[in-house]
Amino acid sequence: MPQIIDGKAISAQIKDELKEKVQRLKENGVHICLAVVQVGDDPASSVYVGNKKKACAYIGIESLSYELPAETTQEELLRLIGELNGRADVNGILVQLPLPAQIDEDAVIRAIDPKKDVDGFHPQSVGALCIGQPGFVSCTPAGIIQLLRRSGVEIAGKECVVIGRSNIVGKPMALLLLRENATVTVAHSKTRNLQEVTRRADILIVAVGKPRMITREYVKEGAVVIDVGVHRNENNKLCGDVDYEDVAPVCSAITPVPGGVGPMTIAMLMNNCVEAGSAR
Ligand code: GUN
Repeated sequence: MPQIIDGKAISAQIKDELKEKVQRLKENGVHICLAVVQVGDDPASSVYVGNKKKACAYIGIESLSYELPAETTQEELLRLIGELNGRADVNGILVQLPLPAQIDEDAVIRAIDPKKDVDGFHPQSVGALCIGQPGFVSCTPAGIIQLLRRSGVEIAGKECVVIGRSNIVGKPMALLLLRENATVTVAHSKTRNLQEVTRRADILIVAVGKPRMITREYVKEGAVVIDVGVHRNENNKLCGDVDYEDVAPVCSAITPVPGGVGPMTIAMLMNNCVEAGSAR
């Protein structure tokens, strides 16, 4: 059976490390504060935002909550971001996505001061990652690098295939793997002979957004498989983009859903907040 990469345990370890770091920063008079902005009351967003605030409380980061009505205008949201950018006591700004249709998400992301961009979504943060300069990195791909490192999976020199090219996961994932000296292929919905491409992978990162699409035909014997997807199956149980039962017997290591990549996203957000607070 493969090694099961335990994202819950690894994220708990990272949060404990951060808790200690925050304690030491407090002793030196540094207080860390994250502003969490939610527009509307999408139930999934409310769960994510609640988990982020809970993680802040555990680590010792103050969180400020801004729960704005669904009818909030872009101007009102941009005004709030401007105010938070100007506040010396706020280190990080998180605007939960998606935003209601009347608000231009790109304009909101661009409005956040890159020094407070703990999501790593600002074009300046993405550009810095692209050319190897310091900056915040999108939390899910950064979490996957930690999962691999802390599970003893070597990345340098490996064939890595990322399925998915989103701005939040696929693209930054490819850039991070490249930074780790992997040979990287990005596959997507228009890729021809997808199985042929994915079967080259020593490390296969799956962010396709289709429940249990990836079966063993897509996986080379002994590959490491990382599943970014989260869906509910016909029995309302969580499942990923990978058909876990089918794939697990042929790979050397795999992340489960739930308990794989998911918990890492929040751990890395907390890491970015601590970095934002330490950099002052
Ligand atoms: N919505 C889904 N994932 C994320 C995330 O990582 N950050 C923000 N801001 N919104 C999200």
